[in-house]
Amino acid sequence: MAADKVLVLGHTGLVGRAVMAASGGRYLAPAGGRREFDLTRPRSMQRLLERTRPAAVINCAGFTDVDACESQPELAMAVNAAGPEALAAACARVGAHLVHLSTDFVFGPGHRRPISESDPPAPLNHYGRSKLAGERRAAAAWDQCLVVRVAWVFGPAKPTMVDKMLARARRGEKLRVVTDQVGSPSYSRDLAPVLLELARRRVTGILHLVNQGQVSRFGLVVRALELAGLDPALAEPVDSRELGLPARRPEYSVLDCRRLRRVYPAGLPAWTDALARHLGVKPEGDND
Ligand SMILES: NC(=O)c1ccc[n+]([C@@H]2O[C@H](COP(=O)([O-])OP(=O)(O)OC[C@H]3O[C@@H](n4cnc5c(N)ncnc54)[C@H](OP(=O)(O)O)[C@@H]3O)[C@@H](O)[C@H]2O)c1
Repeated sequence: MAADKVLVLGHTGLVGRAVMAASGGRYLAPAGGRREFDLTRPRSMQRLLERTRPAAVINCAGFTDVDACESQPELAMAVNAAGPEALAAACARVGAHLVHLSTDFVFGPGHRRPISESDPPAPLNHYGRSKLAGERRAAAAWDQCLVVRVAWVFGPAKPTMVDKMLARARRGEKLRVVTDQVGSPSYSRDLAPVLLELARRRVTGILHLVNQGQVSRFGLVVRALELAGLDPALAEPVDSRELGLPARRPEYSVLDCRRLRRVYPAGLPAWTDALARHLGVKPEGDND
């Protein structure tokens, strides 16, 4: 076994890139694209694990386009549910601890307070259903598995909602942003070192990992506009139904991170601080 090596899967994605950057060169990643690692091909995972024999695997790979999952539910299940199960079985064969990423979208309606790991999931869309099935199937296949639910991720690897909104605002376009979705933004650069630490300590079970605080999508965009020195009035509050996206989203999916603080007492910084760092500006009141 490569004693200190972590195999990062989904290393071309938003979170995977941040994990590789945070690992200081201690990572392995499949360089051969889908030929070498494909969540829909169990043999590819067995071969990869047997060849690399890492101490831990951090799986950031998945079918992550929430609206596309609505029209391709079978592919969503193959990638996000059967895939992690086969990956967990391959990890079990070589004794590699598995950190598998999941989502706040496993939760459904009716929440008013931050949601804990023991609250019952009730996904509202195919993406959430496939991710929930993946959590359960991976954990059933290998007891050295940690499911980490993250949410509303932004980071440098690729433009996410915040960056796209700012780009449009810079072109002077009006932005229509929903007020009826409240969640927990998280910064890939803050997630990454904690994911590596959880893998190193072989934590198991389910863990919520997001930056502190909560906000609506509208509030997030307004804050981003303010931090970027743009006019917050460019953001127009709308209701989710007005956007008519294929996948229904939860109205409230704020994740409670108390379990995280038992294993990682520092927790993650506030999302406002993280957003300011992402945008390369100092938050208000920071006069250093
Ligand atoms: N981004 C968010 O806001 C968010 C929120 C909640 C939870 N999550 C979860 O966090 C994890 C990471 O998300 P992310 O935003 O970093 O994802 P991402 O940027 O969309 O990257 C997805 C990664 O998965 C790979 N991939 C897709 N299909 C694959 C397949 N069949 N076999 C092997 N690899 C495949 C992609 O490879 P290619 O580049 O080659 O396509 C890419 O490296 C996912 O589990 C996601 O469900 C994300």
